Amino acid sequence: MRVLVTGGAGYIGSHTLLQLLRSDHDVLVYDNFTNSAPEALARVQSLSNRPLAQVTGDIRDSTRLNETFAQFRPEAVIHFAGLKSVGNSVAHPLSYYDTNVAGTLQLLRAMSSHGCDRIVFSSSATVYGEAIYLPCDEDHPLQPASPYGRSKMMVEMIIRDWAARHRDTSAVLLRYFNPVGADASGRIGEDPTDIPENLMPYVAQVAVGTRAELSVYGADYPTDDGTGERDYIHVEDLARAHCAALDYAARSPGCEAINVGTGTSVSVLQMVAAFERASGRPIPYRVVPRRAGDVARMCANVAKAQRLLGWQAQMGLEEMCRSTWAWQSANPAGYRQQA
Ligand code: NAD
Ligand code: UFG
Repeated sequence: MRVLVTGGAGYIGSHTLLQLLRSDHDVLVYDNFTNSAPEALARVQSLSNRPLAQVTGDIRDSTRLNETFAQFRPEAVIHFAGLKSVGNSVAHPLSYYDTNVAGTLQLLRAMSSHGCDRIVFSSSATVYGEAIYLPCDEDHPLQPASPYGRSKMMVEMIIRDWAARHRDTSAVLLRYFNPVGADASGRIGEDPTDIPENLMPYVAQVAVGTRAELSVYGADYPTDDGTGERDYIHVEDLARAHCAALDYAARSPGCEAINVGTGTSVSVLQMVAAFERASGRPIPYRVVPRRAGDVARMCANVAKAQRLLGWQAQMGLEEMCRSTWAWQSANPAGYRQQA
């Protein structure tokens, strides 16, 4: 299948490209490299030993998008491109609505103009907000607590309406829980340009010596050890979910939101202990007050992914930590330093 991948140079996109190329899809990446490096694509090409077409462009640039659609004639789009920091979205809400919402509108217009009627969209568990019940299924009310989360919810609604206008259209809204880990090669991985907001990249930077200690945001939650629990999903499993979603979209018109997680949750201190075992390095930490907006526990009901996509997570905490360490230790400065 000819697949256009927006934001393909990013963390989740680069891992998904590898799976797509290994499954013999023809792929074109459309990315403006605002939060990624061309080096990631070079490494994907060398790992897969397959050609990878690339266009440097912004999803808000309709001229460039239309040129790209006319030349490549994609049969499907996987749409990763977007801004993703919860904290930054509070400070810069308009940038988030512009890139995530207005950018998606341009993309859907280009798809409509060029007869492309299949999309897999990167949504997030953040659309659920504070869960009323766990594990959280796809029918849980949507009550996102940040501009970022609201931008994802709005895009979901827009895509749902777009898909409803024509009976041959198919859309899969993948709601990722907490993606972590890296390709087992250690050649590609998550490369935050700033101080990491998320737990796993922060822990990895402490292990490699870039940061002195981890701040554990609260040890007084109603969880077994008092620290926050999340449903971490290995990025390779997540990449496989995109391939399964593409196959599903090819045979199933309509629009479905689908959780992508493992169905189990892991605490901050469990993650720290697992990373110490995987890396053989100590992870000094200090318990500090809770982070505003954090919830005690989040966990996916993954029955729908299994039922519709025939997909389920295969990789556990140990592989998540081991692969992150392989990437971080070989690339302490990420893509800014050649391996
Ligand atoms: P990332 O920042 O690594 O990748 C996003 C890519 O989009 C980058 O390559 C960036 O350069 C590109 N991009 C951004 N704005 C663009 C624009 N205007 N035009 C073209 N390209 C643009 O992020 P990621 O972690 O790989 O996340 C991918 C998607 O998954 C995002 O939409 C994100 O919101 C969503 N998501 C991520 C997580 C997570 O924890 N990583 C969780 C849930 C959902
Ligand atoms: N945490 C720490 N110290 C840190 C960072 C995080 O203790 O330095 C804790 C948090 O308090 C939380 C857990 O580690 O209990 C996980 O935090 P993350 O920031 O890694 O992940 P979140 O669940 O807060 O949010 C992430 C993304 C969201 C996304 C959500 C679900 O940031 O964009 O996962 O996919 F929506």
